[in-house]
Amino acid sequence: MSLRLGDVAPDFTANTTQGCIKFHEWLGNSWGVFFSHPADFTPVCTTELGAVAKIKSEFDKRGVKAIAVSVDPLDSHNGWVKDINETQSCAVNFPIIADENRQVANAYGMIHPNADNTATVRSVFVIGPDKKIKLTLTYPASTGRNFLEILRVIDSLQLTAKHKLATPSDWKQGEDCVVSPSIPDDEAAKLFPKGVRKVKPYLRYTPQPNP
Ligand code: BEZ
Repeated sequence: MSLRLGDVAPDFTANTTQGCIKFHEWLGNSWGVFFSHPADFTPVCTTELGAVAKIKSEFDKRGVKAIAVSVDPLDSHNGWVKDINETQSCAVNFPIIADENRQVANAYGMIHPNADNTATVRSVFVIGPDKKIKLTLTYPASTGRNFLEILRVIDSLQLTAKHKLATPSDWKQGEDCVVSPSIPDDEAAKLFPKGVRKVKPYLRYTPQPNP
C-alpha cells in the first residue's frame, strides 16, 4: 500500500555520496525533504539537483535536511555530481542515495510500473521531526519540480505545527493566515492578539504570528 500523510517514513540504511547513512538517525530532530530522480545523467534531473543545491541555505534556515535518491550506483552519482556542478554553477551539497537494488524506492512506492517499470517517478516526501510524512508529491519524469514551492509548503507546515492556523491559497511568509474552523471566536480572539477578521463565520483571517 502506498505511503500516506501521517505514516512513519520508512527507515533504511543506504550508501550515499556522503557515506553510509541510517535514515532516521541522519534526520535526527530535523525536518527532511526526500526526493527521487528517474536516472543519473538526464537533463531534467540535472536541473533539479542544481536547483536544490542553490537553495540549500534556505532549507538549512528552516532546519530541513535535503536528500535525493536514484536507482543508479555510487560511481555514477559521483560522476554526475561533477556535471551538475559544472552545468548548473553550483556545488551539490546534500547526499544522493545509490539505490541500485531499489530497496529504498520500493519502500517509498517510488516506482510506478504503469509509468516506468524500472526508474522512479519524481516523488517528494516532506518528513517532520517526528519522522511522520507531512507531504507527498508525485510528478512524471517529464516535468521538473518547483523547489521554491516545496519551501513554501514547509513554511506552512512549520507554522501550522505551532499555531492553530491554516494557510490560504498561494500563501507566502508574512501574509495573513486562516484561523482553523475548530476554534470558537472567543478563543480565536485570545490566541491571535493581532486581531481576527471575520469575513464569514467559517472564513476568518489573522496576521501571521511572528513572521
Ligand atoms: C530527465 O531527467 O530529463 C528525464 C529522466 C527520465 C525520463 C525523462 C526525462
